[in-house]
Amino acid sequence: MPTFALRVVTLCILVALVSSSYNETAIQFMYGSVADWVRFSPRPDLSNACGLGLPLRIAYFTRHSGTLWDWTAIANHLEVPWTRVNPGFFQTYGVNTTKANIIWAELGHMLCHMADILIFSDTIPDARPLLQGGCTTPLILQVTNRFDYGISPSEQDAYVQVMADAATRPHVWWVVNNPYEALYIDKRGVKLPQERLMLLRPVGVCLLPPTHLPSPDQALVALVQPSGPTHLENTFITPWLKSQSLTEYVRLYHQHYGGPSVLAQHRGVISIPYQMSVMKMYEGLSAGAVFVIPSPSFFKKLAGEMDDSKMVFCCRDVLRDYPDSWQDYFDWYHKDFINAHILFDSWEQLANLIKDREGTGKLVEEKRVVGKEAMRLSRQRTLDGYSSLYRSLSQQACESIAQPDVLSLGYNADAGV
Ligand SMILES: *[C@@H]1O[C@H](CO)[C@@H](O)[C@H](O)[C@H]1NC(C)=O
Ligand SMILES: *[C@@H]1O[C@H](CO)[C@@H](O)[C@H](O)[C@H]1NC(C)=O
Repeated sequence: MPTFALRVVTLCILVALVSSSYNETAIQFMYGSVADWVRFSPRPDLSNACGLGLPLRIAYFTRHSGTLWDWTAIANHLEVPWTRVNPGFFQTYGVNTTKANIIWAELGHMLCHMADILIFSDTIPDARPLLQGGCTTPLILQVTNRFDYGISPSEQDAYVQVMADAATRPHVWWVVNNPYEALYIDKRGVKLPQERLMLLRPVGVCLLPPTHLPSPDQALVALVQPSGPTHLENTFITPWLKSQSLTEYVRLYHQHYGGPSVLAQHRGVISIPYQMSVMKMYEGLSAGAVFVIPSPSFFKKLAGEMDDSKMVFCCRDVLRDYPDSWQDYFDWYHKDFINAHILFDSWEQLANLIKDREGTGKLVEEKRVVGKEAMRLSRQRTLDGYSSLYRSLSQQACESIAQPDVLSLGYNADAGV
């Protein structure tokens, strides 16, 4: 036995001796021309991972918890190693040309080499430093909230140019998480590459702890009062509920209402769309919440009668410019989801829905099933879409080993400025 143990120890020492050496010619070749060591972060060598078919790593850039939750579910489905970067800690919203160049110069190496595949979500201008700098890591722009969010009017032209150029690069892919974003981007003059564009909606996951409501509360209709004073819930509906003596039927919530599991236990949730899509809808439908919203014609009427000071709404131009097809761009009213909601044509009808505990209660139970099924189908399309994207981007990342990275050699921090 001692002789065997001794042999093992000797073998370990030998292995350690052999592996403690390195190839000086190779590292001289790889790194000898680096000019700026202060900002240098190398591209990881993928040849082993690609050779063995191992999953590549993803960095998910987002400031927003809702998109992060959504991503955790997608990543779990893909079974990929990943991390999250919050650009809010080093970048302002709608970063301008000058600042984007500075960030590229200072952090470009690190951000570009953070992982083998990069995903930018929530606000797309966060990708601007890497796009302007010419980072060649395959990346996905996951557009969830206007691709030019926070870009100042004086920067619009420059920004659109950066994005139009990015749209021609084979390693830059586009995901819109609702059908309106592609229309919006197109209207700003960026021609999206159809072969690298996918509509993949949120899967509807929420990672807040579930709450159990007492049954008297479950018999109430919910109304979440948004924080802005110009939402119709605040300017009209809440005072109207009081004037109609309907408050005993309705549970009013402020912004922090406890998430979709709370909404799902109520006898419907009164909502007035103010965006073409919100995470709350997909999360709510997944959990079994049923939204009570104006019918398409009533919504159009309200939006026509009231301006943004009374009923804030992002997109009156879509109602105007696409009188027959606006619902195709509007996920609340899209054919994939509209049957999941309870629609009202007038305030009187809403009052009746609120008062008729038994009738609405029954309708809500039916609609819950419809909403969950709509989300099941939508979720499957999303997960399949990401699986296919992940395969394409992994293949690109592995093919790119053959070419030098824009940052691999002779990096000069001043080049982009
Ligand atoms: C060291 O690296 C060089 C350049 O990559 C290569 O040509 C050479 O074969 C390597 N030597 C050993 C001992 O692996
Ligand atoms: C760009 O943004 C930076 C920081 O956000 C600001 O200090 C600078 O004045 C801006 N430059 C221009 C030209 O707007």
